[in-house]
Amino acid sequence: MDDIIVKEVKDFDLDFILEIKKLEIENLGEVSGINEWVIPVLIKYGKLIIAVQKIKNADIRGKDAIIGVNELIRDWNEHSCAFIHSFYIKEGFRNKGTGSLLLKKSIEILKKNDIKKLELTVDPQNLAAVRLYKKFGFKISGFKENMYGKGVGRNIMVCDI
Ligand SMILES: CC(C)(COP(=O)(O)OP(=O)(O)OC[C@H]1O[C@@H](n2cnc3c(N)ncnc32)[C@H](O)[C@@H]1OP(=O)(O)O)[C@@H](O)C(=O)NCCC(=O)NCCS
Repeated sequence: MDDIIVKEVKDFDLDFILEIKKLEIENLGEVSGINEWVIPVLIKYGKLIIAVQKIKNADIRGKDAIIGVNELIRDWNEHSCAFIHSFYIKEGFRNKGTGSLLLKKSIEILKKNDIKKLELTVDPQNLAAVRLYKKFGFKISGFKENMYGKGVGRNIMVCDI
């Protein structure tokens, strides 16, 4: 865990965008992952927070590996509220506390940006995600049927931070 750092992404190049796109597909699937048309917009107008693992014996590119992603947008009506659009940990790094670390550090960053409330949607069957969010104090505020398509209902969860 000591070799993992969580940071906000402020600038980017095409390599970085394509790396995030690849992670989106691997961890969320072709349908729900965002792509190079949305990732730059999210970085500039929303917020992208990543967990990276410092590579001790860096390869030729000398790059650290992105192992976790948290994508957020801000609520236009309630400016102190942010919505977690996507949150994932790369397979192989899950169930080791990485998700908890990314969420904890993200909350610290968001508080500095005057965010006081977080909202998200989650598949009620997604036990790992539900457990993670409940651990941080998220509560179910409703259920939206067909949220992301026919039969793709989601619980809405909220948390004061
Ligand atoms: C959901 C996700 C982000 C959790 O990340 P993680 O790194 O596994 O989280 P942690 O290791 O910090 O675990 C968080 C809690 O969930 C529990 N947990 C982890 N995997 C679990 C599983 N498969 N089933 C049940 N509980 C699980 C852990 O025990 C821990 O609870 P505890 O601290 O009380 O023991 C990760 O599983 C993931 O990326 N899933 C695929 C993408 C996804 O579903 N994202 C969420 C969309 S809303």
